[in-house]
Amino acid sequence: MVKKRACIFISGKGTNLINLIRKSRDYSFPISIKLVISNNNKAPGIIHAKKNNIPFLIINTKLRNYEYQILRELKRKRISIICLAGYMKIISRNFIKKFGKIIINIHPSLLPKFKGLNTFSKILKNKEKKTGCTVHYVNEELDGGNIIIKKEFFINHKDNEDDLKLKTQKLEYLAFPEAIVRIYRYH
Ligand code: GRF
Repeated sequence: MVKKRACIFISGKGTNLINLIRKSRDYSFPISIKLVISNNNKAPGIIHAKKNNIPFLIINTKLRNYEYQILRELKRKRISIICLAGYMKIISRNFIKKFGKIIINIHPSLLPKFKGLNTFSKILKNKEKKTGCTVHYVNEELDGGNIIIKKEFFINHKDNEDDLKLKTQKLEYLAFPEAIVRIYRYH
């Protein structure tokens, strides 16, 4: 099986990144991670790229043409799928069009509910009964592309934001790889 060449975008801890790195070691998992991109030079997740000998690129989003720099690198590495794993920058419509291949994102709520930031506090404030995570295709609308997979759990009345985060992330580690398998099931 020829694996698709993937790039993972991060901004923070990179626990989803390490999870995907582990999964991609399985010969039947459809992607191989060829590049990690971070917009934050202090992102703890970069260490996972280093430890696993995966090339990484730290970008300075204050530079006007930073998306071109990314596109150049994606082309050079022949990347055919981008996984946004906690990447905190909005991706421009122009970037999506120019890349022209698959971009997916993981979001810590049951979309279309609770798009954007501060998800867990919004969920608690809204007294939701259940929550979870969603993996979706990325389009120009923030957290708005077609949904590939959702996973949910029931909220305990004692759960605080940290509990929700913990439970959500546990599901993310299942959902992200499953979504990738689904995308390439018929390829
Ligand atoms: C994840 O919980 C994801 O839902 C959100 O950002 C978080 C990233 O966590 N988009 P990590 O960096 O993978 O640990």
